[in-house]
This record gives sequence, C-alpha cells and structure tokens, in this order.
Amino acid sequence: MIIVVANSKGGVGKSTLAVHLAAWLHEQGHRVTLADCDTQHSSSDWLREAMPEVKAVRLANPDQILDELPQIDREADYVVADGPGSNTETSRALLLRAQLALVPCKASMLEVRALRQATAVLRQAHEIRRGVPRAVIVLSMVGKTYRLTQDMKDAAQKLHLPLAKTALTLKQIYADAPGQGRVVWQLGARGREATREVQSLFKELLPDARKGRPSVKPAPQEKPTKTTAA
Ligand SMILES: Nc1ncnc2c1ncn2[C@@H]1O[C@H](COP(=O)(O)OP(=O)(O)O)[C@@H](O)[C@H]1O
Ligand SMILES: [Mg+2]
Repeated sequence: MIIVVANSKGGVGKSTLAVHLAAWLHEQGHRVTLADCDTQHSSSDWLREAMPEVKAVRLANPDQILDELPQIDREADYVVADGPGSNTETSRALLLRAQLALVPCKASMLEVRALRQATAVLRQAHEIRRGVPRAVIVLSMVGKTYRLTQDMKDAAQKLHLPLAKTALTLKQIYADAPGQGRVVWQLGARGREATREVQSLFKELLPDARKGRPSVKPAPQEKPTKTTAA
C-alpha cells in the first residue's frame, strides 16, 4: 500500500507526519519503506537517524516515482511517500500511484481556504482514477485554544475531503525531534502527549495496520515467563 503525504504548501507538517507514520508502521511489525520525494531529503535523513532499520529511498523526479514506486511497493507492506512542498509534477506522479493520501493542513481558516489550490492535483487524480487515492485531511499544528469552527468544517466538506478526528497539536517537541534524530516516542516523558496523539491518529487512519504480522522486534519488557511445574 502506497500512502502519500501531500499538500503543495511547504511547512504544513508533511515530513513530520511521514517520518512518524513510517516509524510507527515499522513498530507494528510491517515492512515499511519511506520514499523521500522532496529534494531537501529531510525526512530520509531524519528517519535514518531515528530508526535506521527502516528502509528509506530517495526518488528524485516524477519519472522515477512512476517507474520505481510499484516495485518498491511490491517489496514492502507500506510505502510512505513524503511529498515536496511545491513541485506539482512530483505530487502528480505520487497521487497517480498512491492508494491513500494524507493531507496535513494547518488549522487556520486561511490555510483551509488555500486547500482548494493545494489539492488541485489531488482532484485531477480523483477524476482520472475514479476516487483513488482515498484522501483525508489531517489538521496539524493546532493551537491550544483552537476550535474546529463550522467554517472550517464547511470548507473541508466543499472539497469532499473528510477530516481526521484526531488532530496534531502545536508542540515544541515535534519541532525538536528532527534535530535530535528521534521520533516523539523516543523522547521520554516530554514526548508522552505527542506520542498519544500521533498513535491515535495512525490507529484512526489505518485501523488494520495493527493487525499485521507479528512485530519483528520482541516487546522490550517481555521476559520469559517462569513455568512452575505442577
Ligand atoms: N505539530 C507541530 N508542532 C510544532 N511544530 C511542528 C509541528 N509539526 C511540524 N512542526 C515543525 O514545523 C516545521 C514544518 O514541518 P514539516 O514537517 O517539515 O513540514 P513540511 O514537510 O510540510 O514542509 C518544522 O520545523 C517542524 O519541525
Ligand atoms: Mg517536508
């Protein structure tokens, strides 16, 4: 399954979402490849530091995406593709290959209004592929006092795009994580709240992902149980 994190605006939380999703799916026991399709390579560098056992590849251009993504998909359970902030052709190639598109969007009316433009390529893909990829808006960097106003719900509804129930809130820990080469659940108590929200978002978006093959790594606290002979 190819999941693309797409929004043609930069700085909306795409790489943050892509790295955490790839790391989480890996920890659920799946074979995961992160396809870093942004020329800045920030997500592949980050994931290599945080979780070097997860495969990360860089796809430099739309042709490479269209040609190589199917093979990468065959060799993995999940491919998480981190899209670029601006290159329309790259986004188009990704959206023509993906089964699921996650669209992070900052929680402000201005950003939600800009979504029509930011998702124009998604609509083209939907027309060509008859509704595929399934797409979900994920609100990101939501402030403490934020309320999901009716205006925002209406704006999302006009685009025929569902909003994920779980939103990602604005937290310093997300901004600190890449510098430390960690994902939020590797940052101890400081990351606890962020961990809870990213994990509940992923369970909401991919309810079946937890039921995959058994985890490749034994759970850390698991100790052999002593068998008391009867
Ligand atoms: N929920 C959040 N709270 C605080 N800062 C965030 C959050 N999500 C992302 N950031 C920070 O915002 C900036 C843009 O995020 P990033 O994931 O790189 O977006 P994109 O890939 O869309 O450009 C980065 O500095 C990142 O660390
Ligand atoms: Mg990015």
